[in-house]
Amino acid sequence: SLIPAGTLLADKGNYSHFMAKEIHEQPEVVGRTVAHYVDLATGTVRLPEEVAIDFAAIDRLAIAACGTAYYAGIIAKYWFEQLARLPVEIDVASEFRYREPPLTGRGLALFISQSGETADTLASLRYAKAAGWPALAVVNVATSTIARESDVVAPTLAGPEIGVASTKAFTCQLAVLLALAIHAGRARGVLSAQEEQELVDALVGVPSHMTKVLARETQVEQVARDLAKARDVLYLGRGLSYALALEGALKLKELSYIHAEGYAAGELKHGPIALIDEAMPVIVLAPRDKVFEKTVSNVQEVAARGGRIILIGDAHAAGEAGLAGETAVVMPEVHPAVVPLLYALPVQLLSYHTARVMGKDVDQPRNLAKSVTVE
Ligand code: G6P
Repeated sequence: SLIPAGTLLADKGNYSHFMAKEIHEQPEVVGRTVAHYVDLATGTVRLPEEVAIDFAAIDRLAIAACGTAYYAGIIAKYWFEQLARLPVEIDVASEFRYREPPLTGRGLALFISQSGETADTLASLRYAKAAGWPALAVVNVATSTIARESDVVAPTLAGPEIGVASTKAFTCQLAVLLALAIHAGRARGVLSAQEEQELVDALVGVPSHMTKVLARETQVEQVARDLAKARDVLYLGRGLSYALALEGALKLKELSYIHAEGYAAGELKHGPIALIDEAMPVIVLAPRDKVFEKTVSNVQEVAARGGRIILIGDAHAAGEAGLAGETAVVMPEVHPAVVPLLYALPVQLLSYHTARVMGKDVDQPRNLAKSVTVE
């Protein structure tokens, strides 16, 4: 045989695209990743031995990554700041490496990458190490260059990801990053044992909620048929959902070639509100978190201008936002900290189904590469 023994051949199983298969694998691979970082018996974070980081000994975290991994980094910034009161700065790796940020003091550099081969992320890692900062990498490919060159590797156990648009690697990155942020919160004396337990319980509960969300795929397909007719789409979110709005817009652009923009909902009135008319769908991520009321007031601003709102939230969200229609995609009510892991699913499915309805090549979008190893 021409195929070396032990080679794992990726196949699509019963799915028509790798992307669909990888979206549906998420309950399993996120569950596996979570189990790698928590002690289920005690409800605490238990980092693998090789992930030895003293978060009490640092006073700054700098994150660099590209594409979808960069959005995981923005969400991680919110987690590390809220749960561990650790100051975080984040850049896309192509800016980090040339901006040459001064890395002084007791800092840690964090790099996030599915492939572990992205040229700009690797160059950023080398820059941080040369500046004398330890480098932590959250990577999916254990044998990659970024994994090899980092001081500490926190693996995501997503398995091989074939679809060009990252899906399961992203939610596994989020699972690892949340576990690290909880651990940092305890190490830095910010979280109590009970708060840790609540957060870990919420994280452990994610896979079963994911299964419920995936069972509502037909709701998403309906929305997608509508989106497929749009020329422009606006995605809004606040707090932990802000980066998901960016991710939703990126995915739509990548797969369906529809022009989409993600915005922090609070920025609506500083520009994008001028674009709103009956023709432009506005997707709003409205989980029940501490900024829910603020998001609702942004929804009302869009509705007052005749905008077409597609609300992703819990069953009561549309009613509370004063909308005539229903919540377009109904999500389970979960601990606010784990919202990004669950709301990532309708965001991925929306781009997948929109592109599929439009007959686009979902697994291999034009002009894109799975791994960008050149500048
Ligand atoms: C490419 C892929 C994206 C990915 C990005 C970063 O643009 O198409 O899906 O998010 O690279 O890749 P990495 O392997 O570093 O996560």
